[in-house]
Amino acid sequence: MTIKVPGPVEDPDLIRLDLLTWPEVQAYLEECKGIILPIGSTEQHGPTGAIGTDLLTAEAVAIEVGRRTGVLVAPALPYGMAEHHLGFPGTMSLKPETLMTVVHDLVISLARHGFERIFVINGHGGNIATAKAAFAQAYGTAVDRGLLVAPRLRCKLASWFLVAPVFSLARELYGDKEGQHATPSEISLTLHLKPRLIQKQRKLDDPSPVGPINGFKDFRQRYPDGRMGSDPFLAKPEHGSSLLSTAATSLTEDLKQFLIYHE
Ligand code: NI
Repeated sequence: MTIKVPGPVEDPDLIRLDLLTWPEVQAYLEECKGIILPIGSTEQHGPTGAIGTDLLTAEAVAIEVGRRTGVLVAPALPYGMAEHHLGFPGTMSLKPETLMTVVHDLVISLARHGFERIFVINGHGGNIATAKAAFAQAYGTAVDRGLLVAPRLRCKLASWFLVAPVFSLARELYGDKEGQHATPSEISLTLHLKPRLIQKQRKLDDPSPVGPINGFKDFRQRYPDGRMGSDPFLAKPEHGSSLLSTAATSLTEDLKQFLIYHE
């Protein structure tokens, strides 16, 4: 049993795939077969939250996990399955079938060159079902195309906001005001990453409604300002810093487990 993890790096630029050359990637693959792929979404986050919240948060958690482990981080996918948010301007959605194709193609591209463990750090609940479906499809494709890594190819979805210690911290900080969308925890993380966003913060009507997610017209009627049960005005940059390190600590352990090889 071996854990193949390169080890922590100081400078996060060292683990960004987009800043490496192909010979460097080839050399990395001699040592580690794992890679982190952040996936986000470009969608409304209530009247005070940034459209890119799910992208910013997934990318930041991924980079921090990469920094702590030395595992490479692929460029973040900025778009996700956000069909239900299309009633609000600025939302850009991939249909489930499109997202499935995109994630499948990215996994197969990585697998073709020898990556065997794809750790997908996700920032958006709407991506979960589709990403898992894409993994199932990619496993079949890897076999059908006779890729060398096919028997060992594994994909794991890690939604940072659902990690148990993050969930507990959010409860502790915000109680039932955490809600389901445009949550103070995700907004806190964006305030930590982009301090200027605090200028958009203001007290919103309380309570924000909760309920089901149907089509985008229904969503806008039920949740007129885009929030679901949340009070994003509770968000603080310092909470964001704690949430980021809590998520990174937990996901670093998950990633190491994921990279254990039983030989
Ligand atoms: Ni979000």
